[in-house]
Amino acid sequence: MTAHTGTLTGTGYDVKAVRACFPILEERVHGKPLVYLDNAATGQKPQQVIDVVETYYRSINANVHRGVHTLSNLATDAQESAREAVRRHINARHAHEVIFTQGTTSALNMAAYGLGSLLLKPGDEVLISTMEHHANLVPWQMACERHGAGLKVIPITDEGELEPEIGRFLTERTRILAITHASNTLGTVNPVKEIVAEARKHGITTVVDGAQAVPHMAVDVQDIGCDIYVFSGHKMFAPTGIGVLYGREEVLDRMPPWQGGGEMIDRVTFAKTTYAKLPFKLEAGTPHIAGIVGLGEAVRWMAAHDLRAMAAHEARLLEHATRELGAIDGLRIVGTARNKVGVASFVIEGVHHYDLGTLLDQQGVAVRTGHHCTQPLLARLGLEGTTRASFAPFNTMEEVDVLVAATRKAVKMLR
Ligand code: ALA
Repeated sequence: MTAHTGTLTGTGYDVKAVRACFPILEERVHGKPLVYLDNAATGQKPQQVIDVVETYYRSINANVHRGVHTLSNLATDAQESAREAVRRHINARHAHEVIFTQGTTSALNMAAYGLGSLLLKPGDEVLISTMEHHANLVPWQMACERHGAGLKVIPITDEGELEPEIGRFLTERTRILAITHASNTLGTVNPVKEIVAEARKHGITTVVDGAQAVPHMAVDVQDIGCDIYVFSGHKMFAPTGIGVLYGREEVLDRMPPWQGGGEMIDRVTFAKTTYAKLPFKLEAGTPHIAGIVGLGEAVRWMAAHDLRAMAAHEARLLEHATRELGAIDGLRIVGTARNKVGVASFVIEGVHHYDLGTLLDQQGVAVRTGHHCTQPLLARLGLEGTTRASFAPFNTMEEVDVLVAATRKAVKMLR
């Protein structure tokens, strides 16, 4: 095993300072220091995000855009300043192109409902890929069923990359392409800019699932050029229950709302309702204001750090984990794409992932086991599940060593 020195990496990246932001890392599990390697499932929260949510509830809490009173105005300002922070973070053109949702899943349901109603006719096609999370598959399947359209799937290689030359999978009936930026199960980062450019040449509307990308890299939605880009707050240091659907103004203006109710209307009569302008047309009901405020703060936390240095640190963790885990007898890394985020999925001959996950937990190590909400992907790979370690900027090389040692120990017990 490799020895690690100083601030652990010897690269100048101050992982200790990053760790100090996350109070949960002081916790112990089964008497052992917590080694949190389940960041792809949900991320941990910096103290400044926790503080801002608490302050919101303690001294601001009121409904937004509804009252003339002071607190309502403060809550509205806090929400709209978070929207502006998110806009800046992803480089959207307008703040009203940022729609708050409950998370990636509800954002994709909104996109599938809205774009399905707008674009799909019987015989049309929606194109996704084999590596999609169920959240970027089931809503499109439902939209296809509603409109008599067909779901087509881009195949992947054994390494977990999309088959090249995406143009081969586009037909004259393809109306929507919905693709993940980074795979939650394999870690593969897809070349979304090139894929979107190819689809746009054919007039196809593009949706990118950024849930696993936004926590790890700077994302510029104008540079990618997609029509819609979605992500969750909770995987990028913000609270659960809040997410974002970014959409180009021209697309969102035409897209019918998924949900009706308060706040999203212009005028309501029993005969007819007209809708509010963006973003409110797509934000029915009282939003998760505390979550939005927390998301704004999470984005500010990220902006105050060097995202490239964080990504480089995660790449080193992944490289170390891939090498050391790969040296365990009978262990195979699942997903060996050339470009990956910090996700190490693996299977071990003769060891069930649930048993391994349970024994790792006994040693303080939190990983995810199972199909990771990607059953068709696992079927393609001939697997029922994997064990997945997923990294964050606060993880250390020593923690990777704990994972490897704990895995070796568990394998001895289970074989
Ligand atoms: N989509 C999340 C994961 O990959 C929950 O674990």
